[in-house]
Amino acid sequence: MKAKIGILTLSDRASEGVYEDLSGPAIKQVLGEWITSEVEYIYEIIPDEYELICERLKFMCDEAGCDLVLTTGGTGPAVRDVTPEATEAVCEKMMPGFGELMRAASLKYVPTAILSRQTAGIRGHALIVNLPGNPKAIRECLEPIFPAIPYCIDLIEGTFIQTDENVMKVFRPKQKKIS
Ligand code: MTE
Repeated sequence: MKAKIGILTLSDRASEGVYEDLSGPAIKQVLGEWITSEVEYIYEIIPDEYELICERLKFMCDEAGCDLVLTTGGTGPAVRDVTPEATEAVCEKMMPGFGELMRAASLKYVPTAILSRQTAGIRGHALIVNLPGNPKAIRECLEPIFPAIPYCIDLIEGTFIQTDENVMKVFRPKQKKIS
């Protein structure tokens, strides 16, 4: 089975074409280095509009059938930043450990790491994780949390994801057979 990963960039300016989105492509680049099983990506850039973010998250989880949706941007304290609120609105279960770990790990790089309200949650068979908008933050945040992501997706009955252990070693308490 091919895993499906949604990448959703939230940025007023990138969505208007004022500047190029570097964070969305950075997500694909980093995951491409780590994941060895088959993956199909879907990618969208939209402005920081609460209703639109909820709608696209629902689309990616329910209609596109994503196992994992990674958002980038809109996690800070600025007036237009509403990604965590939209994430919480569409999720049935919140997974606060992801945000906690990303903020703690990010403090090694920037003292402003605590300004991100990034979170994660489960909608149906999909895990949604928020990343900050800075392209540099993508690897800084994905590196500490990714070891737990494939097992989390196993638990919500999503697609089995395999990685290259030399570059990203994931942890599964019980080894699941690949069918
Ligand atoms: N985390 C990492 N790893 N690297 C970063 O550069 N930037 C911080 C924080 N977290 C940053 C980071 C800053 S300056 C802000 S304002 C918040 O993420 C929110 O960013 P966002 O609104 O673009 O999501």
